[in-house]
Amino acid sequence: MDKPKVVLGVSGGIAAYKACELLRRFTESGHGVRVVPTASALHFVGAATWSALSGNPVATEVWDDVHQVPHVRIGQHADLVVVAPATADMLAKAAHGLADDLLTNTLLTARCPVVFAPAMHTEMWEHPATQDNVATLRRRGAVVIEPAVGRLTGVDTGKGRLPDPAEIFEVCRRVLARGVTEPDLRGRHVVVSAGGTREPLDPVRFLGNRSSGKQGYALARTAAARGARVTLVSANAGLPDPAGVDVVRVGTAVQLREAVLKAAADADAVVMAAAVADFRPAVYATGKIKKRDGQDPDPIVLVRNPDILAEISADRARPGQVVVGFAAETDDVLANGRAKLARKGCDLLVVNEVGEARTFGSEENEAVVLGADGSETPVPHGPKEALADTVWDLVVRRLA
Ligand SMILES: Cc1cc2nc3c(=O)[nH]c(=O)nc-3n(C[C@H](O)[C@H](O)[C@H](O)COP(=O)(O)O)c2cc1C
Repeated sequence: MDKPKVVLGVSGGIAAYKACELLRRFTESGHGVRVVPTASALHFVGAATWSALSGNPVATEVWDDVHQVPHVRIGQHADLVVVAPATADMLAKAAHGLADDLLTNTLLTARCPVVFAPAMHTEMWEHPATQDNVATLRRRGAVVIEPAVGRLTGVDTGKGRLPDPAEIFEVCRRVLARGVTEPDLRGRHVVVSAGGTREPLDPVRFLGNRSSGKQGYALARTAAARGARVTLVSANAGLPDPAGVDVVRVGTAVQLREAVLKAAADADAVVMAAAVADFRPAVYATGKIKKRDGQDPDPIVLVRNPDILAEISADRARPGQVVVGFAAETDDVLANGRAKLARKGCDLLVVNEVGEARTFGSEENEAVVLGADGSETPVPHGPKEALADTVWDLVVRRLA
């Protein structure tokens, strides 16, 4: 099979140097990459770097190698075009169909999926002109990754930072894997919870669980690649932020409930992949609990935590909101799953069998997705992203 052909567009932002890492990730994973920088981008990283790293010629204008008609050919032959960083100027040009250099011509001739990873100062990002351009590009089917929040050029911090190149690569990989399909979650806001809550006993100890957060992060990443605005409520996951996803960090079940309810207020779908503790210690010791010579420790008394899945299922923040739960079972998996689905009142329940060395922390999963309509969708053993995409397929069907 031919290697997928990727066009990496680089526009003139300070984050252009980070595109070198993105380029390396593509070439090292077997993709053929043609880098098309803008003239401004070359002020930040020179043509020699792009050419040497990609193994391909580099041009910014339509006037080089005219006999090969590059302004048309490069876009026509691409399997994916990703522009990282995408400047405010580049978003404006792309939204309005300008074609005054090789990259903007390429964007007009490409019929493959297009991903933009914008990066700019917060004021530029929030300006209504930029926001309108982003909305236009998304409406036309491009995936525009939300910038990250953090340190910008100089001393400023705020929204506008280019997400981690490794995470941009993950979005591109998912978009490439799905081929030319509509970003079917565009215009949708989805909330995903991930990780495992920790219920503190004292300042140094907690009751926790083995959830790594990988399944929830896969759900967030795949939803972003399908065009959704994603809020990821993350409990103690310790994983890198997926590109284009708003991450809200929480510790306990009570904090997770608060964050999910807040984000769910305008959400089209809520997917509760986090392992939320059913119980928490009744008493929190403000000082470290000490060993006492010759005495047994006091028993730990537990109280129930709120049942967040049942609560959001019973009291939908919006009509038509789709609610998905996860059930980790160790035995009688399907029967327990059906009973849980009925008890919780959610639309879909992803049931998987777990054990110490099974599912938790692993890159792969195997599950059955039960529907409140009686449907059963088995998902064979495979990457957690494949299960995530099946969940979104089922959510999209219900949203329609
Ligand atoms: C030091 C410096 C850093 C810049 N960083 C950004 C940036 O991060 N994002 C952005 O949208 N524009 C940034 N600009 C402005 C763009 O370079 C300018 O709008 C340029 O016209 C973009 O051209 P292009 O879109 O063709 O690459 C920066 C300019 C300078 C001088």
